[in-house]
Amino acid sequence: MKPRLLVTGASGFLGWTLCREALAAWDVTGVVHEGDAVSPGATLLRADLGRIGELPRLLDQVAPDAVVHLAAIADAGRCQRNPGGTFPLNVSASVHLARLCAERDLLFALASTDMVFAGTAAPYRETAVPDPVCLYGNQKALAEKLVLATYSGALVCRLPLMFGEPSPRSGSFLGGMLRDLRAGQPVRLFTDEFRTPAAASCVARGILALLGNAHGIYHLGGPERLSRFAFGELVAARFGFGTELLMPTRQADLALACPRPPDVSLDSTRANRLGYAPLPPAAALQRLAL
Ligand SMILES: NC(=O)c1ccc[n+]([C@@H]2O[C@H](COP(=O)([O-])OP(=O)(O)OC[C@H]3O[C@@H](n4cnc5c(N)ncnc54)[C@H](OP(=O)(O)O)[C@@H]3O)[C@@H](O)[C@H]2O)c1
Repeated sequence: MKPRLLVTGASGFLGWTLCREALAAWDVTGVVHEGDAVSPGATLLRADLGRIGELPRLLDQVAPDAVVHLAAIADAGRCQRNPGGTFPLNVSASVHLARLCAERDLLFALASTDMVFAGTAAPYRETAVPDPVCLYGNQKALAEKLVLATYSGALVCRLPLMFGEPSPRSGSFLGGMLRDLRAGQPVRLFTDEFRTPAAASCVARGILALLGNAHGIYHLGGPERLSRFAFGELVAARFGFGTELLMPTRQADLALACPRPPDVSLDSTRANRLGYAPLPPAAALQRLAL
């Protein structure tokens, strides 16, 4: 019999892929909120994780061996506009799940983000002190801190900007970029914003490989530091577009919904030493059929 894995955010972009990647080794139950599907082969369970009173029932029902907590309001603008509405899921649910997992001696992994950093001292290692400039990053930094204070055996994975196949409910920024390029619309891309992007499938495999083999904070960035514009050039080349629709833009050129850190590139050496080896973005894009 396979061990049981509970994945929250299973209808989301990363959750869909992570459930698929986990199925070979785990009996997977995916939690959805408003979505109505999880990866084929996984069992669907519906819950509002913002109602923390529901969490013990969820664990009693599934009796998992491990929990990967991906559910979040990951839209930075939405967090900025509605801190009170996003806090229960982004912070409270994470901490309560960690506590319940500690009490039951279950493996627990939390998805965090490179946005916990201000972007002025990249590349960031796990020892860097979070200094978020937006509320989303703030909530995630607080969740990390409280989760690790609650459960020292928890795994916190700081994830980079990801791209890949969408779930039926949610996709990455790549989907919007391709839609615009296919419609002949210009795409504005920052030349002064840098990340270490990685394919969601590589990141999902990385989280699953660390689960049970590591605890504390791990960075799961991609192997290359790229500007948004440079990433757009890779996308254009892969999907057969010229670069004339790519519009070089600086952060200062746009009115932003919330502050954006200029460079949150992650140093992922710690995870690399444990076998995390994400594909270079150009190679990962080659494998995508979108
Ligand atoms: N995407 C990225 O590039 C990126 C980068 C760094 C870190 N991350 C982190 O990685 C994780 C996954 O991100 P993602 O892009 O896959 O997010 P996503 O596509 O926006 O998915 C969010 C998930 O959270 C679920 N959810 C929302 N409200 C809920 C609630 N009240 N109760 C239960 N579930 C709820 C959604 O369920 P329904 O759709 O069913 O409502 C959905 O499955 C997040 O923690 C995010 O902060 C993502």
